[in-house]
Amino acid sequence: MNKEVLDGLFRPKSVAVVGASAQPGKIGYTVIKNLIEAQYIGKIYPINPKADEIKEILGLKVYPTVTDVPGPIDAAVITVPAKIVPQAAEECGKKKVKGLIVITSGFSEVGEKDLEQQVVDIAHSYGMRVLGPNIVGTLSNSDRLNASFAPFLPLAGKASLVSQSGALLIAIDAATFTRRVGFDKLISIGNMSDVSIADTIEWLNEDENTSCVTLYIEGLKDGRRFIDVCKKATKPIIALKAGVSAHGAAAAASHTGSLAGAVKVYGAAFQQAGVLQATDLDNLFDLTLSLSLQPPMRGENLLIITNGGGVGVLATDAAERYNVPLKFAPADLQAEMRQYMPDYGSPKNPVDMTGMAGNEWYQGTTQLALKHPWVDGIVVLYCETAITNPLEIAQSIYKAVQDSGVKDKPVTVSFVGGERSAEAMRWLVEHGIPAYGAPDVAVNAISALREYAHVKEFANEDIEICQNDHRDAAIEIINAARADGRDSLTEIEAKQIFALYGLPVTQTYLAKSEEEAVSLARKIGYPVVMKIVSPDILHKSDAGGVKVNLKDDHAVREAYTTIMNNAKSYKPDANIHGIVVQEMAPWGTEVILGSVNDPTFGPTMMFGLGGIFVEVLKDVTFRVAPVTTKQAIRMLDEIRGAPILAGVRGEKPRDRQALAETVCKYSNMILDLADEISESDANPVLVYEEGKGAKVVDARIILKNK
Ligand code: ACO
Repeated sequence: MNKEVLDGLFRPKSVAVVGASAQPGKIGYTVIKNLIEAQYIGKIYPINPKADEIKEILGLKVYPTVTDVPGPIDAAVITVPAKIVPQAAEECGKKKVKGLIVITSGFSEVGEKDLEQQVVDIAHSYGMRVLGPNIVGTLSNSDRLNASFAPFLPLAGKASLVSQSGALLIAIDAATFTRRVGFDKLISIGNMSDVSIADTIEWLNEDENTSCVTLYIEGLKDGRRFIDVCKKATKPIIALKAGVSAHGAAAAASHTGSLAGAVKVYGAAFQQAGVLQATDLDNLFDLTLSLSLQPPMRGENLLIITNGGGVGVLATDAAERYNVPLKFAPADLQAEMRQYMPDYGSPKNPVDMTGMAGNEWYQGTTQLALKHPWVDGIVVLYCETAITNPLEIAQSIYKAVQDSGVKDKPVTVSFVGGERSAEAMRWLVEHGIPAYGAPDVAVNAISALREYAHVKEFANEDIEICQNDHRDAAIEIINAARADGRDSLTEIEAKQIFALYGLPVTQTYLAKSEEEAVSLARKIGYPVVMKIVSPDILHKSDAGGVKVNLKDDHAVREAYTTIMNNAKSYKPDANIHGIVVQEMAPWGTEVILGSVNDPTFGPTMMFGLGGIFVEVLKDVTFRVAPVTTKQAIRMLDEIRGAPILAGVRGEKPRDRQALAETVCKYSNMILDLADEISESDANPVLVYEEGKGAKVVDARIILKNK
């Protein structure tokens, strides 16, 4: 990142508007008006070729070109039609402008990719960066900069928003006032011809006025860089991802391909990157409020303080739902808190001070709790009563936080009531304490602070990429298949590659005759499994192409003939390579591993339980490769069927460590062969008791089109 150049774009000291107009209603007029009305602290230069005629726009001298401007220009807002933009960029380059804010539409979003690239090329030839095109512009409260056609600066705050939708940015701008969630910067990113979301996050992470980055994403261009930048970021990042339909899923050739919708892969990438995912626009605002105002919750002990049992129970339910389940407060804290409640109150957790609770009790309990080492975060709830004043309660909570001197534990609040409660909550937010109208939302907001502490721990784990010396051998197998005109490997080829990368595959050999099958079966040892090998028969069982538990020579001979006959009648013109004879792996828990080469994030792993769990329940989870063994263990833990691997109903736990190592090796394989493999499955993989490992029983690799 060239910070100085991006400073010029996002915090310019001077702005030229190329295409400034004297006609109200035009974008070139609106941007000038917005800059003036926001009381921009830098210099504003309107540019219009008819400068001699127009002379002034809204009292500002107009210049015919940027090169006529006397002082330096940091950013040029471009509001001329698309065809003129390259010429405008050229002039800005000559003037040594740092960045172009290209509001103009009519580029790659309507197929004009070359025109867009031309603008970027010109900009780069002069060392400039391009924001957009096809954007609303950029806004910064701390610079009083509204270099956009959004109507006004947002409510001031510590979060900054990067939005791929211009219209949504304008809507959020207005909603900051009704939602009382403040932002410092609003950045419209548009077509991302040059400056990407990752670039912007990197810059915002260094911005002294931003404490949290909020993203509205439709589709990333540089998925892996996005993950890297987010991992390194020291500020919370929240993303709302739109467009969650299963891209490419319909055309997928493997199991994994059909399960890997954008929603799953993006979800996995966000998790690995340490990005919190907002569920909807409401949630985006709620999380932005807590993450921009409060510190992360570093432990799991949440305390709920309330004057009403009902809201306390609602909050308790929510705590469980959002993975911060309540535990009873320690005895010493309970004893201390007793002084702030009647006998019939409860100091356990939720701490119910009852409807008798007034200012002192709220202040006393909150302060005690904050100072107690057991407590990691607090949700304070209040139901409006006739004997209390909501604003005074709010002030008591604030005073407790101030007087405690504790700055590293988060507090969120919920007041349930009418206009007086709403006013009290506005006061709290203005004083840095996130407040919400419903108890479950306050719990959700603090759970996000807990999750943030968590994801940051994971995101900063080191990645161990296994070195592999077998790439050449794998490529040789792949090239032979390509030379054969195939875009998928046979089971035996796929298993050879898996084995090269250290995956525990079953012994598998190809037989081209009955006699060969018998001698291979003897070599492996009975019982064996036999399966048809044909690039034209992907679903072998459906074709009657699989026979299991063959115990002797006779059974092998019979199976050979039956499988051949079945395959020929299933697909008479099928190209049959032969029949594999393989070791009959003992029974184990069936799981599936697989991969897709995601268009945004590249090689991505899938793990799930096999059989009906994957077919019907789609109980699977994803990670962008490479996956460490530690991350793989978390994948095993996060599927709904996790207890099955942990050992249920008297069964011994499965060998999770061996499975995790297999996931790790698999992920290294798909990364190493990213240019070659489009999708793959190891299905089933049988997992045995602890210490007894796992076996890949069947394998499929689909190649990339070249
Ligand atoms: N240098 C400077 N000014 C120039 C130059 C030049 N080389 N050439 C022409 N101009 C002036 C024009 O004379 C005009 O000024 P005038 O009013 O004094 O005549 C001004 O630049 C603007 O040019 P127009 O031809 O009048 O263009 P218009 O204002 O109609 O449209 C615009 C330009 C707004 C950039 C349009 O092409 C466009 O892209 N609109 C869409 C913008 C948009 O929606 N962006 C995405 C936002 S995201 C969302 O969806 C909300």
